[in-house]
Amino acid sequence: MANDILKFLREKEYVSGEVLARKLKISRVAVWKQIQKLKDIGYKIISDQNLGYCLVFRPDLLLPQEIQRGLSTNYIGKEIFYFPELKSTNIIAKEKALHRAEGIDEGTLIIAERQSAGKGRLGREWFSPVGGIWLSIILYPQLSPSYISRITLMTAVAAVKAIKICTQIKPQIKWPNDILINEKKVCGILTEMSAELDIINWVVVGIGINANIDLRDFPKDIREKTISLKEISGKEISRVKLAQAFLQEFEKYYKILKRREFSSILKEWKLYSHTLGRKIRVDMGEKIITGEAVDINEEGALILKKEDDELVEIISGTII
Ligand code: BTN
Repeated sequence: MANDILKFLREKEYVSGEVLARKLKISRVAVWKQIQKLKDIGYKIISDQNLGYCLVFRPDLLLPQEIQRGLSTNYIGKEIFYFPELKSTNIIAKEKALHRAEGIDEGTLIIAERQSAGKGRLGREWFSPVGGIWLSIILYPQLSPSYISRITLMTAVAAVKAIKICTQIKPQIKWPNDILINEKKVCGILTEMSAELDIINWVVVGIGINANIDLRDFPKDIREKTISLKEISGKEISRVKLAQAFLQEFEKYYKILKRREFSSILKEWKLYSHTLGRKIRVDMGEKIITGEAVDINEEGALILKKEDDELVEIISGTII
């Protein structure tokens, strides 16, 4: 209901309580209550006895009505579950993904203003205060489970494109999925999946973008290697616009991936690569391999050339 009221308020300068009540088929008291709700979450609405209500300020909150307004996707973000605070958007998304039969469709989003237990890769914590973009997307791709790395790589390309569109800054991608600006991490991706031998049940793509976070707010241990878009550009960015740009880019690349045309995405990934051509060390869990990152193959695996010229294919690992 608050959503409908916003729609009317956006169209005109002043709208009377009477008109709103009539259009929405509710009482004027109910209109007033909804207006209070909107004010509580940060909208500034002034009222005039004769003219009615007027919307004068919209907060930069990642509210479904703000994100969906002007979002030109076909299915990503058509349904959004919004939380001012939760543990982790990936946790909720994974729970929801189990309810596909009850209408949790492909492209459903979980968004939070803040996560109290944000999850990073390899069981790490992900610092998620107010000011960032923390969201997870539910997908049901009819692809083989081996596509999971390609989904992560394409998400990284979508994130780089969105950041470029909104800030004019060109980030780089550290294989497989860290987005860096000036060698510091600005965005991370956590892809989780449930699969059987050759089919995917669901995929949850979680992305965290350090948008409007002050450097001094980051915990000391990550401050050295982390950055936010606000720090880099010297001003706050519109999180709603950035989230919209990301969702649009994400859907575009996801459609390409589903057509099994990953090679064109890979080409773009390579353009933004921070990894290729560098001497690196990769922690593969059971061992650490050193060599030159020479390529990413069609499966999204990193090809490392060791000192003895042997080529090694790495599907999952962390560059250290
Ligand atoms: C990493 O680089 O380690 C991955 C970080 C992923 C963080 C995002 S924030 C939204 C989603 N919910 C989570 O708990 N994690 C991902």
